Amino acid sequence: MTSESAIGSLLIDRPQDGIFEVARRAFTDPEIFALEQKYIFEALWTFVGLETQIPRANDFLTTHIGSQPVLLTRKSDGSVGCFLNTCRHRGTIVCPFKHGRQKFHVCRYHGWAYDSDGRNTAVTEEADGQYPESFRDKNRDLIPVARLESYRGLIFASLSPSVPPLEEYLGQAAHFIDLIVDQSPVGQVEFVPGASSYTFDANWKLQFENGLDYYHFNSTHSSYVDILKNRAVSSNADLPREDSAERVGQGSFSFPHGHAVNWSIKQVSAYGRPLSNDQENLNRLTEQFGRDRVKWMLRQRNLTIFPSLQLIDISSSQLRTWRPLAPDKTEMTSHCIAPVGESAESRRMRIRGYEDFFNPSGLATSDDNVMYEYCQTGYVAEAGNTLGYLRGLGSDPVHDGPHANEVGITPDEYAFGAPTFGGETNFHAGYREWHRLLLNAGQKI
Ligand code: FES
Ligand SMILES: [Fe+2]
Repeated sequence: MTSESAIGSLLIDRPQDGIFEVARRAFTDPEIFALEQKYIFEALWTFVGLETQIPRANDFLTTHIGSQPVLLTRKSDGSVGCFLNTCRHRGTIVCPFKHGRQKFHVCRYHGWAYDSDGRNTAVTEEADGQYPESFRDKNRDLIPVARLESYRGLIFASLSPSVPPLEEYLGQAAHFIDLIVDQSPVGQVEFVPGASSYTFDANWKLQFENGLDYYHFNSTHSSYVDILKNRAVSSNADLPREDSAERVGQGSFSFPHGHAVNWSIKQVSAYGRPLSNDQENLNRLTEQFGRDRVKWMLRQRNLTIFPSLQLIDISSSQLRTWRPLAPDKTEMTSHCIAPVGESAESRRMRIRGYEDFFNPSGLATSDDNVMYEYCQTGYVAEAGNTLGYLRGLGSDPVHDGPHANEVGITPDEYAFGAPTFGGETNFHAGYREWHRLLLNAGQKI
């Protein structure tokens, strides 16, 4: 059993001494993995779907919270329900499908039926079953998750009744969800049809880190960088630039509960962004939200909601979630997320950009997955803690600044540097939260 001191030494957090270290066994130890599943993934809020995925009564989708299968349904009264996807009879998965629409979910094993409100509506051959008297009064409905809330159409669920309210949990990180949803004339987001799921043979924290990691871009994605350079030569240099009056650079904000966002200010063509190709929408947004917010809608932003959601808004837009399967195996699910009601030209560009970079067949995903597996292989070496979390530690921490003021936030930490800064202090909030939760778990076991 993992002792408290073994958990304590997983993170050495002394930024004032220039030290921030995560132990390699955090990525390989099966006992740590089991604690993470129970005390992080099954104890926090998990993104389970978009409201627009289940718009009509009886629409459903299935997913997981940590290791536990759940069924998300649009109930008969129009509200959303989320239930453990396991039959009350003998435990079979009640719904084996990814998504669909049906009023009743009939268990394949012995035929018990449940409606989209989760109610058990039929027990096969009940009258002939010689059930004990007490069976009639037993609750046989699907078991609802402890908590279910939405923010701007993103549905989150938790197996723990004691999580804080979702808006409190998201805190100011929610501003970066708003920057995507507000691009829609109707204030809604949807998935472009066609999710992709795949596994990589490495720990989930490699994906958590990568979404916050601008440092890797030029080396890991060198072939993509070459392609971009070639495209730049062949594109029209007279196109307007975004942020042309701003100091270029790369920065991040960190928030309570382990969330963080990376962003960059580049003087690249404004026409590289789907939103820029919809002048009518841009005019509306500027009028409604002001120039600063529109400027931030057009900037590259990579948002990580701890522990398992990333929202990326660059030349396309991606929502990805991950599900840890083993210390060295993780399932990824990736969607192209898009504002409802954007112009056809913006949507076309968004889809082409997604195929280009994010799709598993695109130019980035496979690069990253190979690096995760290289890391996982390297972590087995008994070479001490890595030096991977120090970029940015040479600056005094600040909590506000012109960029934070523009977004109207006061993050726990704010970092900004050269375009090649590749700050790593934005990993710290997530690792501190991870360690705090594991230490709490250590006191319970
Ligand atoms: S396990 Fe579902 S009906 Fe028997
Ligand atoms: Fe990458």
